[in-house]
Amino acid sequence: MGGGYPAYRISKASLNAITRMLADELSPFNILVNSVDPGWVKTDMGGPDASKTTAQAVDNILWLAQLPDNGPSGKFFRNKEEAPW
Ligand SMILES: NC(=O)c1ccc[n+]([C@@H]2O[C@H](COP(=O)([O-])OP(=O)(O)OC[C@H]3O[C@@H](n4cnc5c(N)ncnc54)[C@H](OP(=O)(O)O)[C@@H]3O)[C@@H](O)[C@H]2O)c1
Repeated sequence: MGGGYPAYRISKASLNAITRMLADELSPFNILVNSVDPGWVKTDMGGPDASKTTAQAVDNILWLAQLPDNGPSGKFFRNKEEAPW
């Protein structure tokens, strides 16, 4: 939440908010909802100088998608650790 890129930063704050809302609404159905910061990734957006390949970035996403039923929900993760926002 530094200065600049207001539309982008606000969209990410909204994403974190909807993560918490959905996690709450879907908890009775045993569905976990989390969000993830993939790091700086070599995509169209990240560009060729980014530090992570898409394979490295997707590793974090797959880890979240395979959490056990009693895993965390409504959280934001970076490098497989909960991150503040
Ligand atoms: N790359 C990074 O370093 C990085 C870092 C942190 C967070 N992220 C986040 O990760 C997410 C994916 O980023 P990326 O790096 O994979 O970006 P990307 O390579 O530019 O891909 C963006 C994707 O979003 C789709 N898209 C764009 N506008 C859309 C719309 N209006 N409706 C439906 N789909 C739309 C594009 O579809 P088309 O291909 O059909 O245009 C494309 O598949 C983003 O939310 C980004 O902010 C990326």
